[in-house]
Amino acid sequence: MQLPLALRTPVPLVGAPMAGPGGGRLAHAVSRAGGLGMVGVNQSRDAAWIEAEARIAGADGTPYGVGLMAWAQPQAPDQLEAVLDLRPALVSVSFGAYDEPVRRLREAGITTATQVGSLADLETALDSGVDVIVVRGGEGGGHGRNAMATLPLLQMVLDRTALPVYAAGGILNHRGLAAVLAAGAAGAWVGTAFLGCVEAAGSPAAKTALFRAGETGYGRVFDVAQDVAWPPEFGGRAVANDYFDEWVGHEDALDAPARDRHRAAVAREDFSVAHLYAGEGVAALTHEVSAADVVAEFARALLTRDR
Ligand SMILES: Cc1cc2nc3c(=O)[nH]c(=O)nc-3n(C[C@H](O)[C@H](O)[C@H](O)COP(=O)(O)O)c2cc1C
Repeated sequence: MQLPLALRTPVPLVGAPMAGPGGGRLAHAVSRAGGLGMVGVNQSRDAAWIEAEARIAGADGTPYGVGLMAWAQPQAPDQLEAVLDLRPALVSVSFGAYDEPVRRLREAGITTATQVGSLADLETALDSGVDVIVVRGGEGGGHGRNAMATLPLLQMVLDRTALPVYAAGGILNHRGLAAVLAAGAAGAWVGTAFLGCVEAAGSPAAKTALFRAGETGYGRVFDVAQDVAWPPEFGGRAVANDYFDEWVGHEDALDAPARDRHRAAVAREDFSVAHLYAGEGVAALTHEVSAADVVAEFARALLTRDR
């Protein structure tokens, strides 16, 4: 396995793109601490937003990555143009059709990655010519498939490709990083463990709710509530709250008053109704820390005797 230059970081750790909490400030802090931080771009961001966050992420020549949502690209062509101009160290395009963006990025000499949630996804990824595979298990926070857990999918993917493979979903600390490195992964692609960081873009109320959270739920409730056009095969994993429990399993019946209730709860930060995307590892978050502390904790995986 030949690791692209962009991924030869002191700590084999990518700060996963997370639309919302994962802006330029978090990406910069992760990269400065020895990982590679990424900026998460949601479907409604324009080129100016990407450029502004990239300036923060890349301050002082710091390397950073950008994560795009594949399904949103046809409606938001400016996103890819902005990224091609910026030339980040790594660009991921995940969830939907990404052949064309991957082709253009690679043509421009930019290292590409995509997240796969099944063996069928792996075939699609290999056909696209992408440089790096991210195995994303259903434990992971935010959107993706819920078809397989990280560990079984990781083992099967490692048996099937010589490309660099990052493991994502439920990797919380140095123990998880050590495990996936031992299995043969090039590193870990971590989102949830960074959600409580000082540099993450969540409000104080959102972080407090994350620190109190226990269980997560997977489904489309919050996409239907917000009328977001995520393809149905990519549900989201979020903190399980009263609203999720009420609507999961009958999302089709989610009506205008229920949408209004959700919108109002988002505005007043009532997290018994409003969504907080996070993976199963959210239960390990207890208080605000710096991204450098989180990266340093993961780096303990490299001290093989310290387990
Ligand atoms: C709040 C949140 C937002 C996310 N947004 C994105 C995104 O914009 N683009 C993307 O490719 N993945 C996104 N993800 C998924 C992550 O890239 C990654 O797969 C996941 O966080 C890994 O699992 P973990 O949360 O257990 O570490 C998001 C995850 C979270 C928790």
